[in-house]
Amino acid sequence: MALDSCTPQLGRSSDERVIATMTREEKVRLLVGTCKDWNLVPEPAPATIHRPPVPEGYWENYQGNTATMKGKVSGAAGVSYAIPRLGVPEIVFADGPVGLRIDSVCTAFPSTTLLAATRDTDLVYRVGKAIGEEMLYYGVDILLAPGINNMRNPLCGRNYEYMSSDPDIAADMAAAYVRGVQSMGVGACIKHFAANNQETYRNGIDVQVADSVLRGLYLRAFERVVKEAQPWTVMSSYNKVNGVYASENTYLLTDILRGEWGFDGFVMTDWWAEEDPVRMQQAGNDMLMPGTDMQIDTLLVALADGRLAEAVLDRNLLNVLRIIRRCPSFRNQGTTNPDGLCLQQMLKTHADLARSAAAKGMVLLKNDNGALPLNRAGQRVALLGKGSYDTYVGGTGSGRVSRAYAVMLNDALVQAGYTPDAAVTNLYTEHIRHSRSVQPEESTWYMPYVSELEWSRSELQDMARNNDLCIITLQRMAGEGGDRHLTEGDYYLTSVERSLIRDASEAFHKQGKPVVLLLNIGASVELTDVCAYPDAILLTWLPGQEAGHAITDVLTGIQQPQGKLPMPFYVRYEDVPSAANFPSSDGNPNIVIYREGFAQPERTLYPVGFGLTY
Ligand code: BGC
Repeated sequence: MALDSCTPQLGRSSDERVIATMTREEKVRLLVGTCKDWNLVPEPAPATIHRPPVPEGYWENYQGNTATMKGKVSGAAGVSYAIPRLGVPEIVFADGPVGLRIDSVCTAFPSTTLLAATRDTDLVYRVGKAIGEEMLYYGVDILLAPGINNMRNPLCGRNYEYMSSDPDIAADMAAAYVRGVQSMGVGACIKHFAANNQETYRNGIDVQVADSVLRGLYLRAFERVVKEAQPWTVMSSYNKVNGVYASENTYLLTDILRGEWGFDGFVMTDWWAEEDPVRMQQAGNDMLMPGTDMQIDTLLVALADGRLAEAVLDRNLLNVLRIIRRCPSFRNQGTTNPDGLCLQQMLKTHADLARSAAAKGMVLLKNDNGALPLNRAGQRVALLGKGSYDTYVGGTGSGRVSRAYAVMLNDALVQAGYTPDAAVTNLYTEHIRHSRSVQPEESTWYMPYVSELEWSRSELQDMARNNDLCIITLQRMAGEGGDRHLTEGDYYLTSVERSLIRDASEAFHKQGKPVVLLLNIGASVELTDVCAYPDAILLTWLPGQEAGHAITDVLTGIQQPQGKLPMPFYVRYEDVPSAANFPSSDGNPNIVIYREGFAQPERTLYPVGFGLTY
């Protein structure tokens, strides 16, 4: 197409002139992502909103909401609309926060909760920067991360993507993360704004919360990160806040975010958040993602019949163009990897960083009689718990990274010169292989279930005679789309797990040999009745692709555990301040009242800030 030499071009003419040259349709299309496939409704919706119900079996076959995304980066979560005649490129959005989620191989870093446990802003900055490098390499402009919602309750399925129950810890760490990502000239997106502290009914739940509590606990991390790290974008959340959808909430998006905090980037919806596109635009939700034809049509009709003022679109377009001008897709006009980064070398460096970061954020909860570090290689280890062989490296959902590999604990211990009991290893590996073979493969949204093996007292006594120590890994999976359950096997330990920890400890202690309990979990479980048994308890979290190596580094003392809890372990679930109001209040699935307010006395087993060292 021959360009009229007078046609304004983004970057060369003022944004106002570029906008003034757009047709109405171009304006609308630039404010709505390019996905369009309304059939990809991401999850069951509660009765309060009008989305069609999800058909039976939908989740089982769900391939992620990127299945039809046809942008230049396969597996990216979304793409904006390009207007070539005005020099406006498409920009690419992809998930985080524990690494870049696209179809190509990226580094799976440890959970952001683990990163927060390091309390090391320099380290967190370096992880953010590493993710930014991978974005630049693959051609991604905006990382949909970090998630900085307050860990209000240990059962929230996405806790592994969040940072802390303390908004100031979350703010310190998230600001460092955002600065790291953006130091590479790509953008971060803090999410999910605001009060999205659960997955149950997340699309429609009305969070009712007093303004002082909202600001002091649930907006505080967002406020500080906006002011201290200037994230390029913010993602509004699915839920309502005090009766109004966050994505249509003028008070949150315009009065507070822009008016009070001075945010100068753009706001996007969470994926498929849908009620009224007109109200979203009016409230200051600049971009609707991933975008549907219905939204485009609705906006065009509203413009035509005067319900939506064009000036609203122009205001939002200014926010969007200001950021597009900063993006690599604009600066580099389509060339990816402008700095000539070498993929292999970059992934190797990032794997080393993932390993050291993971080790650093592990939290030593107990260490009686100097059980850790294990001081000698060559020791015979009774390695118990399925998680010792099938170590979880991350959670499920949009935060799952397509990693090249994952290091299991048993392999890493062998590499470090330890000798896991062969008979025990064979039983676990065969059990895991069989359990996985009869289920669908592990994927973004699905983790096969493997049951825990039972051991009799006499088997454990034999093990105790034949080995020098015992390591037991207890694990839990969680992720986007659902909350954890207040049941045995999730928040509570099962009777098999409790007996394993108790009986193995008795058997090994009789032989004067130590027992180490590893917690391969994203957020807390109830440990109160078992924590007395083992000599040492190490919280490994979900440690990323280098899991086994990082755990071994800490067990052997190559790396000091330095993590400090960013969220508490409670004595009993009833001690969680939000226990009576999670996931809803007064038996009404549409409402959750944040009654806990500030500074409720918590009965904790291990409080925020707790963590031993060697
Ligand atoms: C999640 C977001 C994510 C988006 C894009 C949504 O389901 O809530 O956190 O960024 O999908 O994948």
